[in-house]
Amino acid sequence: MALNLSAVGQELGPLTKTYTWKDVVLYALGVGAGFSNLEYCYENRLKVLPSFSIASIFEILAEIGVKSNVNLAGILHGEQELVFHHPIPPEGTMTTKGQITHIYDKGRDKGALVVGESVTCDGDGRTLFTSICTVFARLDGGFDGPDAPKQNVQIPSREPDFIVENTPSSDQPLLYRLSGDIFSLHVDPDFAKHSGFEKPLMHGLCTHGFACRALVDSLVPGEPEKARRMVCRFTKPLYPGVPIQTQIWQTADGHALWRTINAESGDVVIDQGIFEYGPIPTDIIRFDNQVAVVTGAGAGIGRAYALELARRGAKLVINDFGGARDGMGEGSVSPADAVVKAIQDKGGTAVANYDSVATAEGGANIIRAALDAFGRVDILINNAGILRDKSFIKMAPENWQAVLDVHLNGAYNVTRPAFKVMKTNGYGRIVMTTSAAGLYGNFGQTNYSAAKMGLVGLMNTLKIEGCKYDIRVNTVAPIAASRLTQDVMPPELFAKAKPEYVVPMVLFLCSERCPVSGQIYNAGMGFFNRAAVITGSGTVLAKEGQIPTVEDVQTAMGAISALETGKEYEELSQQILDMVSAFDASAPEVAKTSSGYSTAEMVFAAMPQAFQAEAAAGVDVVFQFNISGEDGGDWFCIIKNESCRVESGTHGQPECTLKMRTADFLDMMNGVLPAMQAFTSGKLVIEGDIIKSQLIEKLFSF
Ligand code: NAI
Repeated sequence: MALNLSAVGQELGPLTKTYTWKDVVLYALGVGAGFSNLEYCYENRLKVLPSFSIASIFEILAEIGVKSNVNLAGILHGEQELVFHHPIPPEGTMTTKGQITHIYDKGRDKGALVVGESVTCDGDGRTLFTSICTVFARLDGGFDGPDAPKQNVQIPSREPDFIVENTPSSDQPLLYRLSGDIFSLHVDPDFAKHSGFEKPLMHGLCTHGFACRALVDSLVPGEPEKARRMVCRFTKPLYPGVPIQTQIWQTADGHALWRTINAESGDVVIDQGIFEYGPIPTDIIRFDNQVAVVTGAGAGIGRAYALELARRGAKLVINDFGGARDGMGEGSVSPADAVVKAIQDKGGTAVANYDSVATAEGGANIIRAALDAFGRVDILINNAGILRDKSFIKMAPENWQAVLDVHLNGAYNVTRPAFKVMKTNGYGRIVMTTSAAGLYGNFGQTNYSAAKMGLVGLMNTLKIEGCKYDIRVNTVAPIAASRLTQDVMPPELFAKAKPEYVVPMVLFLCSERCPVSGQIYNAGMGFFNRAAVITGSGTVLAKEGQIPTVEDVQTAMGAISALETGKEYEELSQQILDMVSAFDASAPEVAKTSSGYSTAEMVFAAMPQAFQAEAAAGVDVVFQFNISGEDGGDWFCIIKNESCRVESGTHGQPECTLKMRTADFLDMMNGVLPAMQAFTSGKLVIEGDIIKSQLIEKLFSF
């Protein structure tokens, strides 16, 4: 059966593993550590060998082979790159996710290469390491596919700076295999003979572990957490019990080349090795394995976002139409191309796209560029922008329209196809770019202000629609030196406001660790703050159904306008609920009495007796209660013709569903937790007709 070429883009994992210090020590013993490296073998002050990483995600390596349908008779671990972002804790949980990124053809009888890239995070979501694993499919070449780019490491001709000699025991594979790779080739003499070898072989990754120890001992002794990157190519098999030499050349500060040879035959068993090391990393936010689209990334702030995202491991689509400051002109490929080149020159990955965000077709093309190049979209920064400032009377329709088309419609055009992909993936980060001109107003910018405030509205609703899929949508109002601001900012401010100062806030909002959605932040020159829509607590002027007069409003303007006790709302229904509650001063005082219910079941059993038939005239409603946690369950209550029926279970068409945890529900029913407080604190979630939920307080007296 041939290789499955459509495996490119297929997901690897998620693989979740919980490990203890014993797994760490077992691995260290498996790669030859002992009393001379007690830090890897003793649970007291235990350190983790960086190469433990690949051994602990061995299943991902197997998945690459299975998903790409490699002929198992010819499967070999070809190359391995590991990038270490954070020291591996001595125990915990690791979750690994990735995808098959490439399949290369070396030619008939020469084999094929299948590349899988994965990222492993710890239980707190911290990125621990990235693995780029190349499986060599010896028997699968010759399908007329592209060959892999050549990446030859030039091992210096001079003597190595370090030579570390080891002799793995002749039983070494028996110990190493307990760390996960139980392939018969390394244990079963018959299988080994059948595969053309005189006896079971060393695991390539076991020799790799010996090499890793040698590299750490030579270059960062006692500090394995200083390893940054380890790359190598597996070249020859090795039998257990044969002495090996790891030869190391220091080539620059924090950079070394290495290889491991069979000390008896001189054969190179692991070649093309690179080892990078440096200071112990702090808690760094990375974007490995993530794909980011930045619109208008050919210049200004967008360019700064793109460069830093690439530096932190993201793959980029650099979109820029390349027109004039006012959006006029034919457009140009140069701004986007220059940024792509700057990223590639530093070893990053990026593709250019020259579409205008101002059309739906352009937006679709931008997202298609990401899918074609990288197969996914995780991050979208809507940043493209133009200006056509005029005072309002002089604001001709074409200037109004052009600015709305790029800023507001542009964000719609690109976000819509991106949101679809993110929804399918169950993950996404979207940043809108507003402006202080929109949030607060600025003379001569009615078009720009309207568009920029429109983006806040777009965010407000998109955050609700994206919530369920872990799509977080936030907005930034930057202040930065760029061609948009060069003639409006005073020179001393222009000199200070480098676009790079905006980057940290936006990249945090784009990261997995972003804790918020639906927020607005000002960012410039290193200053950051949050802006929000605040709503005052207001006042009720209507008395006994009378419509208030204009004069009533005039008199009450102080109370109407007061913001001292104002608050933010997360969605419309919360504001309506407050408005409706303002009419019923007793509303927050629900369930004053302590009835002493100890189970949810007791509450629902008491519900028919608590029903106030006289308050139910004309009421026709079904309430569904979903009470979660211990002693929880589902109950529904049908109110019709001044009667009340309570049943356990789920109703097919409730008008209003109330969701609570058992403990909170009992607190509320026992009068400890006011209903309003339960709702505003998120302990009571109301779905469906929120207004009807207000009836409950009138319909029941517990
Ligand atoms: P910039 O002019 O340096 O960068 C904007 C980029 O967007 C340009 O490279 C341009 O070619 C590209 N672009 C324009 N129309 C496009 C279209 N239809 N399709 C694709 N690309 C297009 O400006 P800057 O300052 O970097 O602005 C970035 C964003 O920040 C804009 O949305 C702007 O409104 C916003 N902003 C900037 C402020 C500042 O102080 N620089 C203040 C407030 C908001």
